[in-house]
Amino acid sequence: MIKPLRKAVFPVAGLGTRFLPATKAMAKEMLPVVDKPLIQYAVDEARAAGIEQFCMVTGRGKTAIVEHFDIAYELEATLKMRGKNAELANLRDLQMPPGAITTVRQQEPLGLGHAIWCARSFIGDDPFAILLPDDLVMSEVPCTKQLADVYHETGGCVVAVTEVPHEQTNRYGILDIASDDGRLVEIRGLVEKPKPEDAPSDLSIIGRYVLTAGVIEHLARMERGQGNEVQLTDAMAKMIGHVPFHGLRYEGRRFDCGDKVGFLEAQLAFALKREDLGPQVRAFLKNYVNA
Ligand code: UTP
Repeated sequence: MIKPLRKAVFPVAGLGTRFLPATKAMAKEMLPVVDKPLIQYAVDEARAAGIEQFCMVTGRGKTAIVEHFDIAYELEATLKMRGKNAELANLRDLQMPPGAITTVRQQEPLGLGHAIWCARSFIGDDPFAILLPDDLVMSEVPCTKQLADVYHETGGCVVAVTEVPHEQTNRYGILDIASDDGRLVEIRGLVEKPKPEDAPSDLSIIGRYVLTAGVIEHLARMERGQGNEVQLTDAMAKMIGHVPFHGLRYEGRRFDCGDKVGFLEAQLAFALKREDLGPQVRAFLKNYVNA
């Protein structure tokens, strides 16, 4: 029997060094794309996939992330008094059911795999999604919903994958492919950040996963991988052959918001799509592009 997917883990304990000094005192996941912080995009996406329980793996300096989902009584009262109803409705949309968000602490950033292991009590024996908030996906059907739909058919593990330029395989977790129908890929192996000459394909995992709880026992060995970090990719690779393991070429466009250029591109793409901002942004962009 395939267990329903109801849990999601959001690892947000990284240092965000690529975004210093912005991330010196503020969490990378609170950086806004247009007017919404990255973490909110991720939580909204998970909710749209039927997720009911949310676990944030936090570290030092990340309290604003949790507060963002709390009730802000004074702010709400002030908005109400001033008749700012749209803004008030916006805030209320953010509100989560009591007890839906759990936080666990990763005291030291020892790697993404270690961050997931920190959520082991929350995960228990259940399947769970992972969303890395700095990967932002613009799509018709939310990316996690696309993964959840496949998971509810195949069971096992499903990861979102996309083609990357061959010379960039050393930045990503790369798939070794057993079979490929153009949409769904059966995975034979996974390699974290291989050099282009060693890469088994150009298909890379992005920051969206559905995994079974079995990954925790592999993570628990705390084996260090690439960059001397506990790598999630290495633990996932050990599950291949024991549970169904698929890659889904999701429909949509991914923006790497942990990277400055990716982040700027996301700002423009999301602003251009907005009815209230798109025309103005398009108009001023012409001044820069033609310069
Ligand atoms: P990144 O590789 O983007 O690392 O982590 P980072 O520290 O956030 O950013 P840079 O590279 O220094 O600029 C991918 C995801 O895994 C989380 C991060 O918060 C991010 O969501 N992560 C990473 C942890 O939660 N703990 C870790 O030990 C490492």
